[in-house]
Amino acid sequence: MNRSHTPFTPAVDPDDVGYNPCGQAALETLIATRMSRRGLLRAGTAGAAMLSGIAGLAQAATPTDGPGLTLSFNPVAKHLADSVSVPAGYTATVLYRLGDPIAAGVPAYKNDGTDDPTSYDRRGGDHHDGMTWFGMNAQGRWTPKSADLGLLVMNHEAITPAFLHPMGPTISGDKDAARRTVADEVRREFYLHGVSVIETQKQGRAWRYKQDSRYNRRIHTLTDMQLSGPVAGSEFVKTKYSPDGRKTRGTVNNCANGTTPWGTYLTCEENWAGYFRRLPADDAQRTPKELASFKRYGVGGVGREGWATVSDDDLYARWNTEVRGASPAADYRNVSNTYGWVVEIDPFNPKSTPKKRTALGRFGHEGACLGPVTPGKPLVWYMGDDARNEYIYKFVSARNWDPKDANQGMAAGDKYMDAGTLYVAKFKEDGSGEWLELSFGKNGIDANNKSYAFANQADVLVNTRLAADAVGATRMDRPEWAAIHPRTGDVYVTLTNTNGRSRPVDKTNAANPRYYNDPKNGKPQEGNPNGHIVRFADAPLNAPSGNPAALAFQWDVYLFGARAGSSPDINLSGLTADNDFSSPDGLWFSDAVPGLAWLQTDDGAYTDVTNCMMLAAVPGQVGDGGKQTIVNVGAGNTRTQDTYVGAQVGQKGTQLRRFLVGPKGCEITGIAESGDGRALFVNIQHPGENTPDADIGDPAKFESHWPDGGNARPRSATVVITRDDGGKIGV
Ligand code: FEO
Ligand code: CA
Ligand code: CA
Ligand code: CA
Repeated sequence: MNRSHTPFTPAVDPDDVGYNPCGQAALETLIATRMSRRGLLRAGTAGAAMLSGIAGLAQAATPTDGPGLTLSFNPVAKHLADSVSVPAGYTATVLYRLGDPIAAGVPAYKNDGTDDPTSYDRRGGDHHDGMTWFGMNAQGRWTPKSADLGLLVMNHEAITPAFLHPMGPTISGDKDAARRTVADEVRREFYLHGVSVIETQKQGRAWRYKQDSRYNRRIHTLTDMQLSGPVAGSEFVKTKYSPDGRKTRGTVNNCANGTTPWGTYLTCEENWAGYFRRLPADDAQRTPKELASFKRYGVGGVGREGWATVSDDDLYARWNTEVRGASPAADYRNVSNTYGWVVEIDPFNPKSTPKKRTALGRFGHEGACLGPVTPGKPLVWYMGDDARNEYIYKFVSARNWDPKDANQGMAAGDKYMDAGTLYVAKFKEDGSGEWLELSFGKNGIDANNKSYAFANQADVLVNTRLAADAVGATRMDRPEWAAIHPRTGDVYVTLTNTNGRSRPVDKTNAANPRYYNDPKNGKPQEGNPNGHIVRFADAPLNAPSGNPAALAFQWDVYLFGARAGSSPDINLSGLTADNDFSSPDGLWFSDAVPGLAWLQTDDGAYTDVTNCMMLAAVPGQVGDGGKQTIVNVGAGNTRTQDTYVGAQVGQKGTQLRRFLVGPKGCEITGIAESGDGRALFVNIQHPGENTPDADIGDPAKFESHWPDGGNARPRSATVVITRDDGGKIGV
C-alpha cells in the first residue's frame, strides 16, 4: 500500500523499501535515502534426506499421512466493497477500534480530530497489527486454554495522519524546511503507536473488552524501556535520555508479534528507520562506520512524520540523529540504535517495564516466531527482516528450557533471551539450507571485514544486516511472518513480494524463483509482485527428539501467490477463484485446531480485483511436491530457474480457501484465538488509507467509512469472528 500524504511521508511505502545494496537494489537505496523439525521430520530417513537433498526428503515424507483436517465453510468471494465479508454461518463483530477508551472516565471517541490529546494514552491506537490472546483465570494468571476471559495484546504499527486531526496534520514549509507546528497533533501521534493490552470477556455469546480493567494498558513512543542483552550499556546506545546506555524511550512501527513459553508478549520494531531525522548537512560529523550503518538501515531524510521539527525540546529532539552536544550522552546521535529490536512486554504486570532484547539482533523486525518448545533443549525464535533483499534469522537461547520457568515473567526473558546465538539463513540451489552464525570473530565478522570493521558483539547486533551480508546469507523477497506447523515442526515464512529492480530476471534463485509480469489496470507489474511462502525443516541432527540448534535445513516453496487463470509458470500452486491471493504477510497456525493455518494479505498488486483478505489453509509438509523448472520472462530476457514446489492446492490432502475479505484500503493483519478456538480475533488495519490529506474536508471523498459507516472517518479495528452454531472456527 502506498501512503503519500505529507511532505514528511516518503512517496513509497516503507514496507516496500530495500536497503541491501546488491545489483539493481542499490538504485532503490539511493531513492530511499534521498526521500527521506525439526523433531518431527521422520526420524529414521531424515539423515539420508539431508545427504541426498530434496529428492531424498520427498521420499522421507509420507504423503499418505495427509494433513487430516477438512475445512468446513464455503469460500468467500473476492470483492471491492467497503465491508468485511465472512462465510455464511459466521459473524464478524467489531470489538476494539482506534480511539476506543480503555480506562474509566475516558469519553467515547468523537473521531473528528478534536479528542483531547492527553487522553490518547488511554485509547485504542491506530493501525492494529500483530496480536496475541492470553487466556487468563479469575485470579489473573496465564491460562492458555481459557475460553472466555483473556488479555488481548496487539501492536499499533503506524498512523493515517489525515484522519487524526481536524484537517489532517498541520505543516508549514516544504521539503527540508517542513515543520509540524501543532504540538498537540504530534502528541496524539506519539500515543497512537505502540501496543495495547485490553481485557476481553465473553458474556453469553458476545465478546467485549472491559473498559475499566486494571490490566488495560497502552505502551507507546513515550514509554520508558530497558535495553537488555549484549548491547545494553554499550557505546552504541548512549543517549541524553540514558547516558549509561541502559534505557531508551518508546517503541515504534510495531508490526508482527511473538510469544514466549512463559506468557509474555513480543512486539517487533519494523520500519523504525524512517521516523528519524538525518540530514546530509550532519554527515560531516559522523564516522565512516556510522554512515555505513545509517545507509544499510535506511536512516536518512526528514523523518516520516516530522516529529523532530516541532521544537528542540527533548520530546521532539529525540527523533533527531544530529550531533549537537559534546558527547553521545549530550544529544540523540545514537537514538536510532535504540530502535529495531524485539521488545518483551509482560501483559499480566501492568507496571512492568518493557525490555528490548538486543541478543535477537537489530533489523526491520517483522515478527519473532517461537519454535517448538522441548524441555531440556534450547528455545528458538524465527524472524524475518522485511525489506527487499533482506534475510531470515533465528535466535537460539544459550540456556535449555526448564518448564518450571513457565510463570516467571520478565525474569524468564532475562534467562532465555539475553544470551544465545543469532543465525541467518542461506538457501541453497539443491533444496538444502544452512544457518550461518553471526558472532564476533566468526565467519569473517571481525575488524578485518572489508565493508564494515566490526568492533565487538554489540557492534554485530546493532549492525546485524551488515554481519549477515558478510557471511553471504540469501537475499529474500521481503521476509514477513514466520509460523511453525505444530505437527511437523516445519517453519513457514511469508515472502510478500518484490519488484523487478530488486529481483531482476537474471537474479532469481531457487528459493526466490519467479520473475514475471502481472499487469494491473493495464500497467506492468514485474518481478514477483504476488509473493510466495517458503518453508523449511531444521535438520533432526539429534533425532528423534529434534534439535532447535540445528545448523542445516531442507526447504521448498509451500505456496505461490497468483491470480487464478495466470499461466502455469506463474500460478505454480494451482490457485482457483476460491483461493487466489497476492502478497502474503500474516501467517499463523491455530493452537486449538492443530494443522490449521491462517494466511493474511497486505496487497497492492491484486487490488484491481479484490480488497485484502484472509484464507484458511491445511498445508502438507516440506517435500510433498517436487523439483520443478520454471520459465521466467523479463523484458527481452527469458530464463529457466529450478526450484522446489510444494504439493499443488488440493493435492495430497492440502486445502486453501478464502475466509474473509476486508473493506476498502485495508490490510488484514494480526490474528489470535480464544483458548477453545471458538472465537477468532482479526485486525482490519488502515481502512481508507489511500484517502489524500487534501480530501479530509469532504467525507464523500473518503476511500472508506468502515466500520462506523455513514460519513464517519474510517478506523482500524479488531473484529471478533464466531460461528453462529458456536463451533470451532474454520473446520
Ligand atoms: Fe509491517 Fe512487513 O509488514
Ligand atoms: Ca506485516
Ligand atoms: Ca507488510
Ligand atoms: Ca499496512
